[in-house]
Amino acid sequence: MYLGVNVDHIATVRQARGTCYPSPLEAACLAAEAGAHGITVHLREDRRHIQDQDVWDMRRGQPLPLNLEMGNHPEIVEIALQVQPDEVCLVPEKREEVTTEGGLDVVGNYEALSQSCRRFKDAGIAVSLFIDPDPAQIAAAGELQVPMIELHTGTFCDVEGAKRELCLQELIAGARQAHALGIQVNAGHGLNLDNLQALFPVPHLHTLNIGHSIVARALMVGLPKAVKEMLDIMSQYV
Ligand code: PXP
Repeated sequence: MYLGVNVDHIATVRQARGTCYPSPLEAACLAAEAGAHGITVHLREDRRHIQDQDVWDMRRGQPLPLNLEMGNHPEIVEIALQVQPDEVCLVPEKREEVTTEGGLDVVGNYEALSQSCRRFKDAGIAVSLFIDPDPAQIAAAGELQVPMIELHTGTFCDVEGAKRELCLQELIAGARQAHALGIQVNAGHGLNLDNLQALFPVPHLHTLNIGHSIVARALMVGLPKAVKEMLDIMSQYV
């Protein structure tokens, strides 16, 4: 299983004071040295954390594959096509939300997504869709012929007991469905050192994208240790 480290919240701390530090690029390099397999940044329309220059810096200045998270907005699509990340992960995006809430409605936005997917494919950029483990959404991702999806684990992480078990069963079914369609299964949102192992019954997990909990932990123990702690738990996945 691979770890993509999302460094958005390094930029959140920087933007809080309008300083030039801490540097998301430096964080990405430290994460790479600590054994992370990829770097994720989310260029939001409102530019609340990651800025355009950060995306260019990530493309040129750190050694890992770059996953650019983004809403399917014309301006951001053009930037992505210029920067040429290794992957884009299309997410729903609302200005008023604190963080990404729920998965993309692939069924309802099929035509618009289809156009962007085609443009990215032509540019040699792999497309992932951030979706809930909903059979109709996964089937629509299959019709779009994307090489990968990212299952939204936010709800699973937010609940406990019987509700979490229900979410887990949905994630298991979603992973099986996507795998049967030949789609790589990634997952992310809300994962931390305490809830990660509960996700392990989900089969076929390829990459986990984790941000907030690693950056938060890094404030206490430093980023290299925070990344290694996450990798240690991930190494128990079979
Ligand atoms: N994957 C996607 C698609 C996301 O939108 C986010 C949040 O930016 C993450 C993963 C990482 O979530 P977290 O910061 O909760 O680990």
